[in-house]
Amino acid sequence: MKDSLLNVPSPSAHLISIPKDYFSGVQIPLRRSGWSGSSFLGFASPPFSILNSNRHQYLHLSELKYFDQIPYERAKHQYLLSRYTAKCTLAHYLKEVDIKAIAVVKGIFRQPLVNYTKHPIPNISLAHTEGIGACIIFSREHPMGLDLEFPKNESLESIAQTTTPNEKILRTESLESDLSFYTRIWTAKEALSKVLGTGLTTPLHVYEINQLVVKKDYTISYFKNFTQYKAISFWVGQFICSIVLPKMTECYPSTWIFDRLNISNFEQPRS
Ligand SMILES: CC(C)(COP(=O)(O)OP(=O)(O)OC[C@H]1O[C@@H](n2cnc3c(N)ncnc32)[C@H](O)[C@@H]1OP(=O)(O)O)[C@@H](O)C(=O)NCCC(=O)NCCS
Repeated sequence: MKDSLLNVPSPSAHLISIPKDYFSGVQIPLRRSGWSGSSFLGFASPPFSILNSNRHQYLHLSELKYFDQIPYERAKHQYLLSRYTAKCTLAHYLKEVDIKAIAVVKGIFRQPLVNYTKHPIPNISLAHTEGIGACIIFSREHPMGLDLEFPKNESLESIAQTTTPNEKILRTESLESDLSFYTRIWTAKEALSKVLGTGLTTPLHVYEINQLVVKKDYTISYFKNFTQYKAISFWVGQFICSIVLPKMTECYPSTWIFDRLNISNFEQPRS
């Protein structure tokens, strides 16, 4: 496992008593003709008991109010994990010391929106599964989307069924397993649906992937109908993460996936 937890300082760490090892993030340099910028990717995994007992330290007042009306523990956990991940990632990106000054609310299509008094306000995409939260931050001029899944053999049949015959042809020997292949395809589509803001509300074949390039540490998927985007998929511990971004943007995951992202905390699903 590589040394540093983060390649940026942790501005809010002294305000929150949740151990900082529960969060890991990395800056992603992005470049395209006539434009360069960066994105920030964060993962977090505190257990529910810690998220819940410390919630006043990181939730905005509006988020606390929302939290109080969530009826079920599972939904409370999802909410706290999602907000904690988003806000730690945002605090690093914005260099904001007061994490409670940032609020993450839902738009009318349940898309995440950042409320913050200073400008420019970034956009985010979120995912959470099996006790791990993920957040990617991007500028509004450069849309991105994110998904994270824990590949399970029990789900293999159902995700294989969502894969089109044309996609099944893309399976190559260089991928470790069917489960890895199908999960990459699935997470790429779900991340695209978040960029589009639709979620998975249209027939899945609309998001069909027509090319899969296997690199050493990651795969790149290209979409048949959304040719302006591509998905980069890679392992984060035992999870597969897909990031969708504009196709012509250069992004070299090998330089940040393992070198700077501390994934030791994300090896296993959490309760
Ligand atoms: C969006 C969708 C793909 C997310 O997949 P999921 O497996 O449920 O959950 P994930 O962990 O991958 O992602 C959850 C995050 O997706 C984001 N999200 C939800 N709807 C979104 C949309 N329309 N656009 C962009 N992002 C969206 C949210 O930030 C959410 O996190 P939050 O609820 O903590 O804020 C899925 O919920 C979907 O297809 N939704 C469309 C149908 C719908 O809106 N149903 C709601 C009926 S009430």
